Amino acid sequence: MSILLTGGAGFIGSHTLVELLNGGYDAVVMDNYSNSSPKALERVEELTGKKVKSYTADISDREALEKIFSENDIKEVINFASLKSVGESVEKPWEYYSNNIGGTLTLLDVMRKHGAKNFVFSSSATVYGDPAEIPIKENCPKGTCTNPYGWTKWMLEQILIDMQKADPEWNMVILRYFNPIGAHKSGRIGENPKGRPNNLMPYITQVAVGKLPELGIFGNDYDTPDGTGVRDYIHVVDLARAHVKAIDKLRENPGCFICNIGTGQGYSVLELVNTFQKVNDIKIPYSIKPRRAGDIATCYASPEKAEKELGWKAEYGIEDMCRDSWNWQKNNPEGY
Ligand code: UFG
Repeated sequence: MSILLTGGAGFIGSHTLVELLNGGYDAVVMDNYSNSSPKALERVEELTGKKVKSYTADISDREALEKIFSENDIKEVINFASLKSVGESVEKPWEYYSNNIGGTLTLLDVMRKHGAKNFVFSSSATVYGDPAEIPIKENCPKGTCTNPYGWTKWMLEQILIDMQKADPEWNMVILRYFNPIGAHKSGRIGENPKGRPNNLMPYITQVAVGKLPELGIFGNDYDTPDGTGVRDYIHVVDLARAHVKAIDKLRENPGCFICNIGTGQGYSVLELVNTFQKVNDIKIPYSIKPRRAGDIATCYASPEKAEKELGWKAEYGIEDMCRDSWNWQKNNPEGY
């Protein structure tokens, strides 16, 4: 029996693949490589000493999905295949709704036809909007999203909840990620954004490697201790391990299980920049810029449910994240 990882060559997918293979699970990957590289899979093979079976295909491609499900004994799917740039989603809403929602609906339809009704979904803290409480618990009401990307996660959560209610044979584990950064400690796999990075850590590492001249910090007048935005950064290897726990959870037939995946610790932009500089002994030039549209002041998780009910807890701290992000970037200045 194999677990299908859609988008398995991406940042979170490739790290999860390593943890699954090292944990003795069998996995099959499909990826359309729109924002990833097949080289990531070669490196996973190198890191794990295992062969990775992969298909080049899109989750919207029903025929390709049929072929994958016919050729493999798949009962569980982890769906990493998703467009994920907040800014781009505002420019291209149709692409986001079509790929993220339309693609996932096609995938779910093929899954149920093949009796594979176990699904792990990559959701996001973005579903809380400007959160009603800090730290954020899972029962905090879902909020108003400020961009189509966020709405795709919000709507897909609702779709999964409704499908599971209508057909209790389904098991859905919905993981609400906070801010994944870091990289595998080998420095062989990591985050490889195409074009100019939108997120903070890849921007910092590209400044550190000399590809970008300076970091812009989006606002220093938020209601936070130093005025810059506070987020719950989580090491991607911890996040990957949460997916292994999610597979174990699926095997307990939980129905619908929703869980935050964060550390419970908030760090400001300036704290992250200062830690990066200290741990790696590198100067990051920066200047303060206006606030970015749609940003909120503070967002961090209550990680209690994950610990009690998923048996998962983050192990790495902010220094590990800064060290491993830089180790990846300096060894791969041009990415894969
Ligand atoms: N920031 C900067 N400069 C940059 C980039 C970011 O100052 O060049 C700041 C932001 O203003 C924010 C913090 O760094 O305060 C983190 O920003 P990111 O873009 O790295 O992450 P976000 O918290 O905005 O968004 C991330 C993911 C989304 C997800 C969301 C959930 O990118 O996919 O977390 O909270 F929905």
